[in-house]
Amino acid sequence: MTDKIEGLLKEVDGLQASSAKEAEALRVKYLGKKGIINDLMADFRNVPADQKKAVGMKLNELKNKAQEKINALKEAADTQDHVADDIDLTRTAYPVALGTRHPLTIVKNEIVDIFSRLGFTLAEGPEVEDDWHVYSSMNFADDHPARDMQDTFFVEAHPDIVLRSHTSSVQARVMERQQPPIRVICPGRVYRNEAISARAHCFFHQVEGLYVDRNVSFTDLKQVLLLFAQEMFGKETKIRLRPSYFPFTEPSAEMDISCDICGGKGCSFCKYTGWVEILGCGMVDPAVLDANGIDSRIYTGYAFGMGIERITNLKYKVKDLRMFSENDLRFLEEFTSAN
Ligand code: PHE
Repeated sequence: MTDKIEGLLKEVDGLQASSAKEAEALRVKYLGKKGIINDLMADFRNVPADQKKAVGMKLNELKNKAQEKINALKEAADTQDHVADDIDLTRTAYPVALGTRHPLTIVKNEIVDIFSRLGFTLAEGPEVEDDWHVYSSMNFADDHPARDMQDTFFVEAHPDIVLRSHTSSVQARVMERQQPPIRVICPGRVYRNEAISARAHCFFHQVEGLYVDRNVSFTDLKQVLLLFAQEMFGKETKIRLRPSYFPFTEPSAEMDISCDICGGKGCSFCKYTGWVEILGCGMVDPAVLDANGIDSRIYTGYAFGMGIERITNLKYKVKDLRMFSENDLRFLEEFTSAN
C-alpha cells in the first residue's frame, strides 16, 4: 500500500487542468466520495497494526497534497475563464477613426448657426467675381485705393475679373435678385495680395451679414451684434462700437469685444486696451441700395463683415495664421472634440 501511495503522490504532483471543468473532474476522481483516496481509506482497515501509523501519515499527506494541487488548478482555470469572459465579442473589431472638422469650419458653422437662430438665411456667391459686384456696386469710387494692384488679385488679361477681396460682393448678388425683406448671412473665402506672415495671408475667410427692410435702424444692428458676441464668447462679453469708414456703409463702425483673455483688465493680446476688434459694420449706404435695385426712399438696412480667422484666433488662441492652411495634423487633431 505504501508503494501505491508513493505512486499516487507523484501522479498528483503532475496533474494539469486547462479549464475549471477539468479541475472539477480531477477533484471527483481523487477526492470524491467514490474517489481513489476514499478507496484507500477503506483499505486502511486491512493494514497491519504496526504499519498503521506510517501508512496513515502517508495517506494524509496524499490527501492534503491532492487537495492543495486541485484547488490551485481550479483557481488558475477560474482566472483564465474570467479573462475569456471579459472579451466583449459584440464590440466593433477596429474603431473607425473619424476625421475632424477644420477649426475655421467649426467656427464658421457656429457663426452661421447663431445668426440662423436670429432669422438669417444662408447666401453664397462666387470667389472669382467681376469688378461690379466687388467694388462698383458697393459704392467704391473708380479711383478707390482698394482696387489697387496691391490689394486685389486680377485675372490676367481680364482686368474686370478679380478674386473677391471681401464677401460684401455677396450683398450685391443677393440684392440684385431679391427685394426686401432681406436677411442673409454669407460665409466665404476672400483674397488679398498681401505678403504671407503670422498675421496676414493672401487668402482668408469672412462672414458677411445683410439686413434690409423698412425701418431698420442702427439700434437693431447694435443689438444683434451684442447678442452674437455674447453667444460666441460668453454672456459676460461687452461690445464697443468705434466710428469708422467703409464706402458701402454710412455711418460705419468697427466693433470691439472685451478681451476674452484678460477679461478687460489689459494684456499683451489686447495690447493693454482691454478690447479687441472683431468686425466692421454700418448702415447700408443709400447709394448701395439704389445701385442694386432697392429703393432707398422706402428701405434701410445694416451690414456687417467679420474675419473667421480672427474669431477663431480669439476662441482658440491660434498665434500664427499660417497654421490654418498648412494641414499639419498635430494642429488639426487638437480640434477633434470641437466638432
Ligand atoms: N467688407 C468689409 C471688409 O472686408 C467688412 C464690412 C462688411 C464692413 C459689411 C461693413 C459692412 O473689411
